[in-house]
Amino acid sequence: MALVPTMGALHRGHLTLMNEARRRVGPEGLVVVSIFVNPTQFGPTEDFARYPRELDADVARCATAGVDRVFAPAADAMYPSGDQTRVRVPTIAAPLCGVSRPVHFEGVATVVTKLFALTGPCVALFGRKDYQQFRLLARLARDLFLPVDVVGVPTVREDDGLALSSRNRYLAADERVLAASIPTALRAARAAYARGERDVGTLEDLVRGRLPVVPEYASLRGADDLVDVGAQLLPNSPAVLAVALRIGATRLIDNTVLGEPDPGLDPS
Ligand code: PAJ
Repeated sequence: MALVPTMGALHRGHLTLMNEARRRVGPEGLVVVSIFVNPTQFGPTEDFARYPRELDADVARCATAGVDRVFAPAADAMYPSGDQTRVRVPTIAAPLCGVSRPVHFEGVATVVTKLFALTGPCVALFGRKDYQQFRLLARLARDLFLPVDVVGVPTVREDDGLALSSRNRYLAADERVLAASIPTALRAARAAYARGERDVGTLEDLVRGRLPVVPEYASLRGADDLVDVGAQLLPNSPAVLAVALRIGATRLIDNTVLGEPDPGLDPS
């Protein structure tokens, strides 16, 4: 059985995870999509209340995509009275998004552990768009010997390169234009890396200089466990270049792994 955990408001990125799930389990296998806007992964000032909720439309999208079951629990079923256990993956959760979202990854790790326990998948599919989340969950499954293969699926992008996100709908038309500079900046860094640039500060500054606002972060970290890479990238050590920025009120993230192909960003 393959599980695709989501918070709903399903778009083409989520559908790609469902298709990959089907590919992995075959026509006879079971594909399950969970839809749960998880309260514990939102900070007190974040968009939990206004996060888009469209369960009927999402169930129809899942049916069209050939999903076998949708699991859409109520909040008090996932967190019944007396619930107190939390799952932490502290070192991977600390940098990048962990700086501005201190409770976020504990909420993600906890809810995904619960979803694994409730549904018992052999494989679970996550988007590489949320790269820190994907690496953290891969580490979690490994550390806890969970019998589930955590798979990362390449980021699905719009024609101009912007990564699909449920939050893109918050962008006004002029903000949407600015958002396209994110993939442009990542492409520029990939091109510099391809020309041999290995200086971490230079690569990070190159990205910062192409973004329309000062980003929350534009950082290179080790591609596996997001460790500090020092001042120079080493041969045979892929590194993730990750960015987060606010355009208006909307927080957007994106990334690319230098040292690995990235079909969504590389020239075809
Ligand atoms: P959500 O934001 O709904 O995303 C569900 C899954 O879809 C995640 O694995 C995410 O990385 C993936 N995804 C989103 N946009 C994508 C894109 N453009 N390309 C490829 N994959 C994409 O991430 C969450 O929900 C939650 O934190 C969750 C894991 C469900 C735990 O609550």
